[in-house]
Amino acid sequence: MQRTLVKDALNSTGPIDTILLQGWVRTRRDAKAFSFIELNDGSCLKGMQVIVDATLPDYAAVNRANTGASVSVRGKLVESKGGGQKWEVIAETFAVLGEADTDYPLQKKGHTMEFLREIAHLRPRSNLFGAVFRVRSRLAYAVHQFFQERNFHYVHTPIVTASDAEGAGDMFRVTTLDLANPPKTENGEIDNAEDFFGKKTFLTVSGQLEAEIFACALSNVYTFGPTFRAENSHTSRHASEFWMIEPEVAFCDLQGDMDLAEDFVKYLIRDIREQCAGDLEFFSKFVDKDLLTRLDFVLEKPFVRCSYTEAVEILEQSGKTWEHPVAWGDNLQSEHERYLTEEHFKCPVTVYNYPRAIKAFYMRQTDGCAPGRETVAAMDLLVPGIGEIIGGSQREERLDKLKAGMALHHLDEKNYWWYLDLRRYGSVPHAGFGLGFERMLMFVTGVANIRDVIPFARTPGTAEF
Ligand code: 4AD
Ligand code: MG
Repeated sequence: MQRTLVKDALNSTGPIDTILLQGWVRTRRDAKAFSFIELNDGSCLKGMQVIVDATLPDYAAVNRANTGASVSVRGKLVESKGGGQKWEVIAETFAVLGEADTDYPLQKKGHTMEFLREIAHLRPRSNLFGAVFRVRSRLAYAVHQFFQERNFHYVHTPIVTASDAEGAGDMFRVTTLDLANPPKTENGEIDNAEDFFGKKTFLTVSGQLEAEIFACALSNVYTFGPTFRAENSHTSRHASEFWMIEPEVAFCDLQGDMDLAEDFVKYLIRDIREQCAGDLEFFSKFVDKDLLTRLDFVLEKPFVRCSYTEAVEILEQSGKTWEHPVAWGDNLQSEHERYLTEEHFKCPVTVYNYPRAIKAFYMRQTDGCAPGRETVAAMDLLVPGIGEIIGGSQREERLDKLKAGMALHHLDEKNYWWYLDLRRYGSVPHAGFGLGFERMLMFVTGVANIRDVIPFARTPGTAEF
């Protein structure tokens, strides 16, 4: 007999004569004449109430159906007489597939998030993490849907790479050299030509440079894959391995880029609001009381746009004392970003035109800047509660200006010969951005720590599972 998911059984429009449910016991309550079992199979937040009558031949098995055990139940789906649920299942056969030892760690509610991280192999069976990972799955689907509906092509950019796209120097090295005894060149340095790929290679920090190649051929493309950063940041918003979505659009400028970013974020929120209503309700009850109001508010209003120079003025006039002082030319720190979006504008803000010196080499120089006030066509989308969720820019499409940018950042043109070629053969204005998938997931769920929206988080010092 075909198994029915609890989700479909709960949505049934009428009683069903025989139904087969399989899942894990959440709770069991024994009365004199029967036992109540709440069975959850992860298909949705709610479980199905199963009633096993004491006169049933299989009733002896109920004793072994502890919290955490896996069970298989065949029976009738009937309207529930008790409150709290529309349907329940009256068991006809009942079997325990796998008992759970009595030290099963998810017995009671109220475990701390820290403890649950230590049992990352069991936490998906809790209400909270079941909901987080169902939303994660749906969010990934919505990402593809958004771009596919708009004629964007999905490009798989490489994970092992020789080029540092962000120039931030926080890459993980990939090597098969014997670290205890590496091959040396004549002058005693490690001979990278002997390494697996014949050169120094790393895990990618971004698929952007390769995505640009494809945008200059297929016009509209996006990547969606894992990226790796070896920065030693211990914050609730940084992971060493995270997923990024990077659209790249030919014949597009910074305005078009900001419009696309705003449409994208709103589309994702709307989709999750509709498709994951039950899970979001749970988050708004137990994780973040303001979640639904905030998401609806974000959907209704256009995002504010504010130049970096204006942002610095706002911060200087805020009357706040900052841990990191504000000065034109410095990067905005998290405290500044949070102030802009949470206190000053009280809505998502796109900050654009940042100082050239603090941004990546590939960003397009703004024409006609005053000396000492050179900017590039960069943009960051900041949202309340998190800060930056998107970073993007219009790219420098002019060969001479791009070379100047590389010189400014001390990059060797030789390593970027193919990137420079794009500016030699049919160069076009183009722009793109990167959305941190986990940061977006934090935003739609209200979950405050990035470690709790990743199945098995990689952060400095942690790679257990
Ligand atoms: O601002 P970033 O570094 O931009 C880029 O990598 C560009 N190449 C994107 C592009 O234009 N195609 O990163 C983009 C986004 C950030 O806004 C943030 O949401 C996320 O990626 N991000 C991280 N998420 C989790 N942990 C980290 N360590 C992250 N670093 C960046
Ligand atoms: Mg950034």
